[in-house]
Amino acid sequence: MDINIQLTEHSKIDSVDFNNLSFGRTFSDHMFVCDFADGEWKNPSIQPYGPISLNPSAKIFHYGQSIFEGMKAYKDSEGNTLLFRPLDNYKRLNKSAERLVIPQIPEKLFMNGLKKLLEVDNKWIPTNEGSSLYIRPFMFATGEGFHASPADSYKLIICTAPSGDYFSGKVKVLIEEKYARAANGGVGFAKAGGNYAAQFYPTKLAADRGYQQVIWTDDNTHQYIEEAGAMNIFIRINDTLITSPTSDRILDGITRKSILQIAEDENIPVEIRKITVSEVVEAAKNGDLKEMFGAGTAAVISPISGFGYKDEDYNLPEIKNGYASNLKKRITDIQTNKAEDKHNWRVKI
Ligand SMILES: Cc1ncc(COP(=O)(O)O)c(C=O)c1O
Repeated sequence: MDINIQLTEHSKIDSVDFNNLSFGRTFSDHMFVCDFADGEWKNPSIQPYGPISLNPSAKIFHYGQSIFEGMKAYKDSEGNTLLFRPLDNYKRLNKSAERLVIPQIPEKLFMNGLKKLLEVDNKWIPTNEGSSLYIRPFMFATGEGFHASPADSYKLIICTAPSGDYFSGKVKVLIEEKYARAANGGVGFAKAGGNYAAQFYPTKLAADRGYQQVIWTDDNTHQYIEEAGAMNIFIRINDTLITSPTSDRILDGITRKSILQIAEDENIPVEIRKITVSEVVEAAKNGDLKEMFGAGTAAVISPISGFGYKDEDYNLPEIKNGYASNLKKRITDIQTNKAEDKHNWRVKI
């Protein structure tokens, strides 16, 4: 399908300070837009980034039929544009779509739209160390009606945001004892917008108590550690790196998968198994707990300095050359073409 291209007459790029980018707050000049109506995807276009118009009865507003992805584009030292495992994001978008009864987007349409957008806004891909172009594809119900049922029309939009290094220091987290981000049979494995809205309140309560993030536990017993904010969680006890298995409730993170592969390549002992809160508390008390970190596209790896549980605070030791910093470097070196890509994760545009 041909992509209709309408370029902006007022590029904002000269007003952007690429040395001082925060995360996801500055938006590139263009966006890719495609509509689903009458049973098919149509009208793919690149247009200036800007407001869109929807009727108040569009189902996105009432029933939250909306999903998204998060991925990044990088520039290597030779000026090539690189994506990291983009087909994994594409597949996960469709997996989320299926769960929310949003139509599947064909691979060619998605990848061609994304590639064209990156060509058009190529100058927006930052070259500074640690910076990248964050890419946000999302699909949502535009079809109208106050009836609680799937819409008959949808939009796919891909926007991009040049972003600096997400690292905001080590975070103190609260292990959740009451709220849950996901439940068995629910939508936790999908990147459904509503999952994140539901996290805001418990995260706010945790913030009021001085914790920057929530460690989600299982909805049933709150005895098992599942995710860290909007990231997968890794826990290092002595030399073993442990992460929870993915499930109905846990997102199958691409960073998580990549860390597991790199750990295997480097002979780091790894366990994919359920992690109990009590073993982590025990390990913190006896000194076996060495590191905890979140893993996700935005921050890559976000180290945790300590956690709160049942009105007690536990601090993690300061570790030089820990797994968190080494793994972050290993992944970002592959992403930016500074290291060999033996699993063919990079895709050159
Ligand atoms: C709930 C949740 N867990 C984990 C992740 C990490 O996934 P990825 O590494 O694919 O970004 C994300 C972010 O996408 C997320 O929203």
